[in-house]
Amino acid sequence: MDRLRIAGGKRLVGEIPIGGAKNAALPLMAASLLTDQELTLRHVPRLADIDTMTNLLVQHGVTITLVGANGKNGNGHAKGDERRANGGGVTMRLKADDVGSTTAPYDLVRKMRASVLVLGPLVARHGQARVSLPGGCAIGTRPIDLHLKGLQELGAEVVLEGGYVTARAPHGLTGARIVFPQVSVGATENLLMAASLARGETVLVNAAREPEVADLARCLVAMGAEIEGIGTDQIVVRGVDRLHAAEHQIVPDRIEAGTFAIAAAITGGDIELLGMDLALMEAPAKTLGEAGVAMSGTERGIRVAAGNRRPAGVDVMTEPFPGFPTDLQAQMMALMTVSEGAAMITETIFENRFMHVPELCRMGANINVHGSSAMVRGVASLTGAPVMATDLRASVSLVLAGLAARGETTVNRIYHLDRGYERVEEKLAACGADIERVRD
Ligand code: EPZ
Repeated sequence: MDRLRIAGGKRLVGEIPIGGAKNAALPLMAASLLTDQELTLRHVPRLADIDTMTNLLVQHGVTITLVGANGKNGNGHAKGDERRANGGGVTMRLKADDVGSTTAPYDLVRKMRASVLVLGPLVARHGQARVSLPGGCAIGTRPIDLHLKGLQELGAEVVLEGGYVTARAPHGLTGARIVFPQVSVGATENLLMAASLARGETVLVNAAREPEVADLARCLVAMGAEIEGIGTDQIVVRGVDRLHAAEHQIVPDRIEAGTFAIAAAITGGDIELLGMDLALMEAPAKTLGEAGVAMSGTERGIRVAAGNRRPAGVDVMTEPFPGFPTDLQAQMMALMTVSEGAAMITETIFENRFMHVPELCRMGANINVHGSSAMVRGVASLTGAPVMATDLRASVSLVLAGLAARGETTVNRIYHLDRGYERVEEKLAACGADIERVRD
């Protein structure tokens, strides 16, 4: 199993290209199931989760080809310069003109919960889908009841059997008014896709406003869907008979960008995040600003400049967009471990997203967890240690801590990192980090 070895204490200076968002790419790939024509996605990041979604779609019968970053070389590999320029992504063409299986098997769904995003498109276009129930995961129980209830409201018959959920709508789905009792990114995406091919009008109330949801909606519009209220909490979809070919460029990854912004902050550095849009990161930028780290828009992206003092302690509460993202909570906590003062970090989205805490403590952090809040008292410095985590964002928070720590840190089990960060060690090393991947 690969590890990352980090010698901490280097100030990071330079530029980092930001890739397409993983959490936009996954639903966009699932959206290919809505049409028999080709969907072309640009800036698809090269990540383990994307490979899992590729395997899932291929077993449904989707043909997927990769071409170079700007579509020039059709051999499935982008040339080095092209990949670096756009954060490493590639162009992916997906064609679902021969869907043979509408079953998403346990082996793939268990690897990645986002597999449930095939449910809506399959029922809407093929009248049925059978998807393994994902079960709990490292960060919480994460049920999919809102996805299923929404599909029932669109007229699907939903049955749970043998660990699988089967949804049937042999005569098609019908538009409805769906009020989400709580904000869910995945349920909004599943129902947005399903409603695009339903008869009549669907209104999604209390919909998720995450930029990745808006990106999906924009791609669906390019495919011929009729959608209003994109980016708001009330989305209106007027169903159409069929969708068609489209080409779409994936929104940049605000979580990858936020992670590297914190890498700059925790090392007292100065980094430009190429291709990122500050408008997608208002809450993290505000929080980092309060900690003394300036984020400003540039012609090419965002500049992040740490002050010359330790960061100030800032309280953080995770919330649905436009609030502070849960996917940056662990990274922000790593920064707060070396703050001057204290920070109360409250996680409101997932019930078990503090797995990084004991590992950060092994590096010398002072953190006490009380229910859904963690009290972080800043220390002058961390010390390197062998660490590991069982979740993507928790793992990267340990990399960040390692960049700031005195001595050597080894982050084990980095396959979690490879699920969501493309070439993380290369991007950090290019800014002066002393970091290497050790292959066993
Ligand atoms: C998406 O997960 C992201 N994943 C997560 O990214 C992210 O943490 C999360 O949104 C919140 O922003 C993808 O986009 C692929 P939710 P999702 O449905 O859609 C509860 C990362 O590190 N809920 O918005 O699964 C749920 O348990 C990750 O990249 C129900 O109760 O999240 C949670 O407490 C991990 N019933 C809350 O809602 C449901 O039917 C929000 O979950 C659905 C959700």
